Amino acid sequence: MEALRQVALISGASRGIGAATAREMARRGYHVVVNYRRDAAAAHRVVGEIETAGGSAEALQADVCDAGQSAEMVRRIHADHGHIDVLICNANTVNPPFEPLLSVPWEAFIGKVTGELAGAFFLTRYVLPAMQRRRAGRIVYISSTAADFVGSVAAHSIAKAALNTYSRHVAAQAAQHGIVVNTVAFGTVRTDATAGVLNGDLRKLTEERSVLGRVMDAEDAARSVAAVADDGFGVTVGQVIRVDSGFGVLDHQLHVMTKHFQRGDEGTSA
Ligand SMILES: NC(=O)c1ccc[n+]([C@@H]2O[C@H](COP(=O)([O-])OP(=O)(O)OC[C@H]3O[C@@H](n4cnc5c(N)ncnc54)[C@H](OP(=O)(O)O)[C@@H]3O)[C@@H](O)[C@H]2O)c1
Repeated sequence: MEALRQVALISGASRGIGAATAREMARRGYHVVVNYRRDAAAAHRVVGEIETAGGSAEALQADVCDAGQSAEMVRRIHADHGHIDVLICNANTVNPPFEPLLSVPWEAFIGKVTGELAGAFFLTRYVLPAMQRRRAGRIVYISSTAADFVGSVAAHSIAKAALNTYSRHVAAQAAQHGIVVNTVAFGTVRTDATAGVLNGDLRKLTEERSVLGRVMDAEDAARSVAAVADDGFGVTVGQVIRVDSGFGVLDHQLHVMTKHFQRGDEGTSA
């Protein structure tokens, strides 16, 4: 029984943003539950890395889209540790169909939307009551700036927009019990999920428009998630916090500069 460490449950922590967040939360002193669906070896590698670095972690298999498996994982953590202090709903449950809204098949569309929501819904349902009884806890949902896009990632965009709204409902209910709920929405992050699409134009665009001058990596993303999860980001509650390495800011600057130079052009030609 871990009596001293706070416990963080991170869904989909065997790879990518989840794995990096697991390492970062362990570095901050949490006992981390590295949840995974299929890849036990990868999850145990993450646990091994954390333990080698002096941290504490365990790997637990559960498909977080499955109510029974989610309930059993949460029951087991409560039995072993007594509490869950931080829940990070990160699992990339369904890869997005890259098709425009009018041609995406209904099954692919609804599969993405329900998969996205299921990954948050069941864990929240089983973790929240105990947090409410203790009047303590933080929940972070991992979303995407794609929620604001229109175009070929329609199903993904709509699924993440639904997650954002879902998280605000949870935040409103949980806040009455002293629990802090927020969402972190990432721009493009270099992980397995983006390996197939992060080529040519998208990579170049992201590099050019990013204040980092490069695509964010999982460690960049993890530091942001941990900052929100660790102390709840002060009094920030029910917010969707964009972490996009300045993509939006630079767009704004670009817009302002374009206007400025357009005025300059007009002045020159007058
Ligand atoms: N990468 C980006 O550019 C980006 C941008 C914005 C938002 N995001 C969001 O960030 C989160 C993480 O993305 P990522 O790029 O790190 O994904 P990733 O590299 O594809 O990793 C996905 C992780 O989720 C786990 N997983 C998938 N389905 C699961 C399920 N049903 N139950 C439990 N675990 C499951 C996988 O475990 P197994 O390998 O064992 O199946 C793996 O650990 C996602 O919510 C994604 O939408 C990513």
